[in-house]
Amino acid sequence: MSNSIFLKDGTAQGVAKQRLIETLASPEKRVIDDPYAERFVLGASLLKLMGHKASIWLTRKFVPGFHEHLISRTRFIDDLIEKGAATGTEQYVILGAGYDMRAHRLNLPSSIKVFEVDQVEVQTKKRSKLSLELPNSKNIAYVCVDFNHQSLTEQLLAAGFDRNKSTVFTLEGVSQYITKEALNSTVQELAKLTENTTSTFFLSYVNQLLEDDPKACFGRGYPNAVRRAEMIKRLSAKFGEPWISFYTAEEIKTLLSENGFTLKENKSLADLNTEYFSPVGRTLPEEQIFKLEHFVIAKT
Ligand SMILES: C[S@@+](CC[C@H](N)C(=O)[O-])C[C@H]1O[C@@H](n2cnc3c(N)ncnc32)[C@H](O)[C@@H]1O
Repeated sequence: MSNSIFLKDGTAQGVAKQRLIETLASPEKRVIDDPYAERFVLGASLLKLMGHKASIWLTRKFVPGFHEHLISRTRFIDDLIEKGAATGTEQYVILGAGYDMRAHRLNLPSSIKVFEVDQVEVQTKKRSKLSLELPNSKNIAYVCVDFNHQSLTEQLLAAGFDRNKSTVFTLEGVSQYITKEALNSTVQELAKLTENTTSTFFLSYVNQLLEDDPKACFGRGYPNAVRRAEMIKRLSAKFGEPWISFYTAEEIKTLLSENGFTLKENKSLADLNTEYFSPVGRTLPEEQIFKLEHFVIAKT
């Protein structure tokens, strides 16, 4: 159990904070837009006062590339969901949704049913900050599941999940917080839930190299890579939840293929830097690249 001062929603707040910082950039400079992030972030007013540039500068002082890494992850999934929406996705399941507001901020067709899944404490806190008039509110079902101790299937079906509808699942920034057994059984459940239809699965994972060879998880010349790798793990445990599970690319590929998924993409900030940040004049130099987490898309 977390002994964090944020009581379970620390990691969800951490990601929402970076989305808020990105949203403070001018429209022609930003890579994603999340006008709702501020309502979940402790100290949001101070960040707004500081603005995008100063907030980025400060984040970079602690962990260069951390902000851009999280924003590239967000954008990568935004693109996936928007592409899916345009090509017939009927259900979208956000696993470990935290303060993800895609259901409201992306212009999804009302025909897509969204399921947000998270631990009860985080979901209750999130819902207390939502108002009914938010776009697309009627299409969202909230499902409480602790992946470490509960099965997803029963709760999803009870919330109206349809086994015959084409579905996108996302598990963003979660696999490092749950046991390998929990990830295994969750992927098995996703495969079984959609055995009659097609599904797309986004999964992010932290590279085993963070434990074995931390320098390899950062761009060449990254300052104090080993010390920073330790600091990142320490801060996550202190302000959120500890990282307990790390994976090799091979492990992930095997996990997916054993459950009928074919891996289509495996990216990190190193790959997405020029795609997302160069067009807005913000290309990160090699020595600020943070690539310890990978973004995977798989399909059945
Ligand atoms: C880093 S946050 C990511 C939130 C969201 N996916 C995003 O990217 O904004 C991790 C999320 O995983 C959820 N989580 C962690 N352990 C979990 C568990 N055992 N069962 C269900 N959700 C869990 C947390 O509550 C939190 O919302």
